[in-house]
Amino acid sequence: MEGLLLDWFAAHGRDLPWRRTKDPYAILVSEVMLQQTQVERVIPRYLDWLERWPSVSALAVASPADVIRQWQGLGYNRRGLNLHRAARKIAADGWPADLTELPGVGPYTAAAVANFAFGHDALPVDINVSRIQERTGHSFTAPAAQALMDLGATVCLARVPRCGICPLASACPSRGRRYEPLRKQSRFEGSFRQRRARTLRLVAESERPLSELDREAVESLAQDGLVEVADCGTLVTLP
Ligand code: ADE
Repeated sequence: MEGLLLDWFAAHGRDLPWRRTKDPYAILVSEVMLQQTQVERVIPRYLDWLERWPSVSALAVASPADVIRQWQGLGYNRRGLNLHRAARKIAADGWPADLTELPGVGPYTAAAVANFAFGHDALPVDINVSRIQERTGHSFTAPAAQALMDLGATVCLARVPRCGICPLASACPSRGRRYEPLRKQSRFEGSFRQRRARTLRLVAESERPLSELDREAVESLAQDGLVEVADCGTLVTLP
């Protein structure tokens, strides 16, 4: 089964910029961006980021304000701040053996960086990979990681899998099945997440009086360290 997958990947795998490097920093940047943002949107932002901050040491000396501004538009802004904190930690102490010690790095991202950058025997299992393992009844191993990501993103889709073009179809017990619609991600429009994003965008443009801003959003952003309230609680700035 895994051989079929790897042959397919060699012929049809996506050429993504973070697959052309073994640099752990570049791969960490890509994986943090990819946590909640789609591949097509990440590609240009990943390239811009590495041009601006090509190394851990470059990012470590950046200001949090610049990092927050550079992250704008990618969503879930805490990720940018955590990436910055991770760079500062790595610059000070080196790469930890357990990558989950880095801020913003959970088991999935840790396994992805361990595999793609350090060549460790770790399989990052996200919803796509677990779906393929469930449908095929096969446990894939670490070398199949990138291939599984591509198969999950382009062929073994959640609702209507494209079994007609799947390299595993001949060996797959779930071949031809259809699936119920999954829960959609909750609406961004009208959400508190949107209020936070708007508020952060305003403060990133320029410091603002608290009285002009959404107070609840400011409180929540301040709790995450994404904004600071200065001038005895009247002026909101980036950290
Ligand atoms: N999603 C998470 N990590 C990825 C990667 N390395 N390539 C493509 N999609 C991904």
